[in-house]
Amino acid sequence: MFENVQVAPPDPILGLTEMFKADPNPDKINLSVGVYQDAQGKTPVLSTVKEAEKRLLEKENSKGYLPMTGEPAYCERVQEMLFGAGHEIIVAKRAATAQCPGGTGALRVAGDYLHTVHPGAKIWLSNPTWANHNTIFAAAGLTCEKYDYRDPETNGLDFDALCASIKKIPAGDVILLHGCCHNPTGIDPTPEQWSILGDLLAAQGILPLVDFAYQGLAVGVEEDRAGLLELVKKVKQLLICSSFSKNFGLYRERTGALTVVADSVEQAATVMSQIKLRIRYNYSNPPSHGGQIVATVLGDKELRAKWIEEVAEIRNRINEMRHLFVKTLKEKGVTQDFSSIIEQRGMFSFSGLTKEQVLTLREQYSIYIVDSGRINVAGMTPDNMDRLCEAIKSVL
Ligand SMILES: Cc1ncc(COP(=O)(O)O)c(C=O)c1O
Repeated sequence: MFENVQVAPPDPILGLTEMFKADPNPDKINLSVGVYQDAQGKTPVLSTVKEAEKRLLEKENSKGYLPMTGEPAYCERVQEMLFGAGHEIIVAKRAATAQCPGGTGALRVAGDYLHTVHPGAKIWLSNPTWANHNTIFAAAGLTCEKYDYRDPETNGLDFDALCASIKKIPAGDVILLHGCCHNPTGIDPTPEQWSILGDLLAAQGILPLVDFAYQGLAVGVEEDRAGLLELVKKVKQLLICSSFSKNFGLYRERTGALTVVADSVEQAATVMSQIKLRIRYNYSNPPSHGGQIVATVLGDKELRAKWIEEVAEIRNRINEMRHLFVKTLKEKGVTQDFSSIIEQRGMFSFSGLTKEQVLTLREQYSIYIVDSGRINVAGMTPDNMDRLCEAIKSVL
């Protein structure tokens, strides 16, 4: 069976990490993979996560299976993170949540649900989007289409083009929107623009799927739900995929969730019954540890407050690097305008570097950036900034 199997191409992002690890240059810089690094280049375990783990070690008394939809306390906390405690959706019980193995697991379950329960529905993805969106939904059997998003002239949002694209989407299709910190561009609509998008989607009968992988990394944990809250004023039915990989640093614990918001408690339960079926034949039930950590931290007033500060530290460091990057390039006499990077949010930005420039940076300077020119700002540190900007200047 195996003689004729061809070697699969490396993953465009994770393959680069393997190359980075193999590079012997002590001054190498990794701006490719979507993982937060502190000023020392380390991906830390948050102190609130450590504290929660200590408590769990004492408390945990079973390794029995979780329900297909995971830990109920975790699912409650997920909804409070998304909408805020006491929101009408929570009070009316119009949402149902399933704990999933990471945001990726949630997206795949959503894809399986959409493909099997709504056959013929296509999914519309922003151009550009996180590369894995295409592959996850294609693997689930969905047809992926693109909608306009970024204005290459300004490196900002082309809102008119976005609205014009949406007007062409047929009723019954699905649109994926990034909750905040759009990956890969770092460009988000304003709350006012979200409200307009909500009107358009409601009028056309398009189902939004909100991918919320960076809550807390744009402006603040509560502030970052502003777009979603505008959307749910206009649209009564949607799917939301949450990830706690970035804002809790729980990457390897695979901690995510799929939430369905429906017209009524009954409708939410019916849709969740279909989602549960897909969970059963994918992975049966989710891993427990990450969800327990999130539920412990968010369920404890003091730990939650401390966690909010830890997220702010992550966010502030990234934003400082955005400023320092633009400033250092300017000081080095680079005339190309990189100032839009200061406005962008989250871990990523589009640098505007061409594929050739990216390859030169990799081969000659051991600086690793994905081919599209997307940079992970969190890979920058005060120590590597000078070398990074010098190298960029030389390839421009
Ligand atoms: C936009 C987006 N969605 C979802 C994910 C999935 O995150 P995870 O599966 O690690 O929770 C990522 C991770 O990089 C992402 O950038």
